[in-house]
Amino acid sequence: MVDEDIKFIETQKIDLTDVKLTGRILDIGGGGEGIIGQLKGESVIAIDRRESELKEAPLGDYLKIIMDAKDLKFLDESFDTATAFFTLMYVPIENHQKIFQEIHRVLKKGGEFLVWDFPIPKRDTPEKEFYGLHLEVKIRKKKISTGYATRWVKEQDIEYYTNLGAFNGFSVVEKYPLDGIFYIRFRKE
Ligand SMILES: C[S@@+](CC[C@H](N)C(=O)[O-])C[C@H]1O[C@@H](n2cnc3c(N)ncnc32)[C@H](O)[C@@H]1O
Repeated sequence: MVDEDIKFIETQKIDLTDVKLTGRILDIGGGGEGIIGQLKGESVIAIDRRESELKEAPLGDYLKIIMDAKDLKFLDESFDTATAFFTLMYVPIENHQKIFQEIHRVLKKGGEFLVWDFPIPKRDTPEKEFYGLHLEVKIRKKKISTGYATRWVKEQDIEYYTNLGAFNGFSVVEKYPLDGIFYIRFRKE
């Protein structure tokens, strides 16, 4: 993938310093920059189906395990929190339902699932095969510049994920668009 193939939205900024994530945390698609692992350290179990992505993620106190989010190898009600930080944008639509179902299963009652992602519109630029964003993430005094881009074959927005959560037994505690990206905090009822 080269930059010329990607339609980028404006650079987005996000400050995770004060985000509330409690107890044992399952980070879905936690390879890449391993942002949640960098934020919460040893409370985090980062799973990713690609070994290379986990190996690429910065070293830290968090545990990295190769695992498919469609088939989580954890017992029911094992986690207090689950996160998907710019992961669902990479997952084919047909896998979303199963992944939400699995996350709901492994969360304790009252557990929370936090999603950060961005709206993808209908493809309107045939020469751009990918859709992406540059992101500046702040964690306390540290600033991480990164970028995420996915094949431009699906559309998604905050309402799509809100409905998927509701369908799978989550309520929404908090949700808001943040400029070009969005954030949803679900709770397992
Ligand atoms: C680019 S990362 C997202 C950013 C990452 N959370 C970070 O902190 O930088 C998306 C990851 O989701 C992973 N992924 C996609 N589908 C998956 C699935 N079904 N199960 C587990 N991981 C998956 C990909 O392998 C990829 O590493």
